[in-house]
Amino acid sequence: MLMAENAAPRPWEVDGEEKRRRVRRMFADISPTYDLLNSAMSLRLHHRWRTDAVEGLRLLAGDVGADLCCGTGDFGRPLRDAVSPSGRIVGVDFCMPMLQIALKKPYAMGLSLGDAGAVPLRSSSFDAVTVGWGLRNVPDMGAALSEIVRILKPGGRFVCVDMARPKSALLRGLSHFVFNMAVPAMGSLFGKREAYTYLPKSTDRFTTREGLAEAMRGAGLKNVRYEDRFFGNICTHWGEK
Ligand SMILES: C[S@@+](CC[C@H](N)C(=O)[O-])C[C@H]1O[C@@H](n2cnc3c(N)ncnc32)[C@H](O)[C@@H]1O
Repeated sequence: MLMAENAAPRPWEVDGEEKRRRVRRMFADISPTYDLLNSAMSLRLHHRWRTDAVEGLRLLAGDVGADLCCGTGDFGRPLRDAVSPSGRIVGVDFCMPMLQIALKKPYAMGLSLGDAGAVPLRSSSFDAVTVGWGLRNVPDMGAALSEIVRILKPGGRFVCVDMARPKSALLRGLSHFVFNMAVPAMGSLFGKREAYTYLPKSTDRFTTREGLAEAMRGAGLKNVRYEDRFFGNICTHWGEK
């Protein structure tokens, strides 16, 4: 009892600067196995979701794209395909060990250490911004959305892919079981149970698909739309500056 009372709060139980610190430490800790577990948990479908997300951005050869909270850089492949070798893509993340893995990927992506709440990129300079499984992790989603709008060119497009809760009660129950039991168990195999408990817990705390759409509109994006993937466990939102 005494131990439970004195135990440090877990990453999904904190907010603000403490969340920022804990989240960064957590991703540093799981960086070596991040790609492997990502593919295992999504049955490798995350590559398809990324490609779909980028297709909705209508990028052209020579365009300029930014991937915020880029992690190990897997948005690099669809972005590079979309902008062709003549385009430019840059990834930003605040966790050096994740960026070090991104650096080894063959997508010719510029990488920058930086925070989604204060993005180290010029205003009105990007045709598109992607964020994959990132907004759920930032301490201030409104600040991150403002930064996204700031760096987009007028008419530039934004896409966010993140976890969601299925709309049907039956699927929600099933997902709750899978994500709260199977995913942490998978993490345990690598000694990372807490980090993989963070996934369902942070999903439960994350805004709804409608809430995110509203926040995007509030930040100044228009033509906001969203589509579910993976039985409603993933939702992709697009918007335009
Ligand atoms: C779940 S991973 C997603 C990585 C990558 N976008 C992907 O699609 O696989 C979340 C990433 O967001 C980064 N992140 C979380 N909060 C951040 C913040 N405030 N600023 C920058 N990066 C952040 C983490 O370091 C981590 O690499």
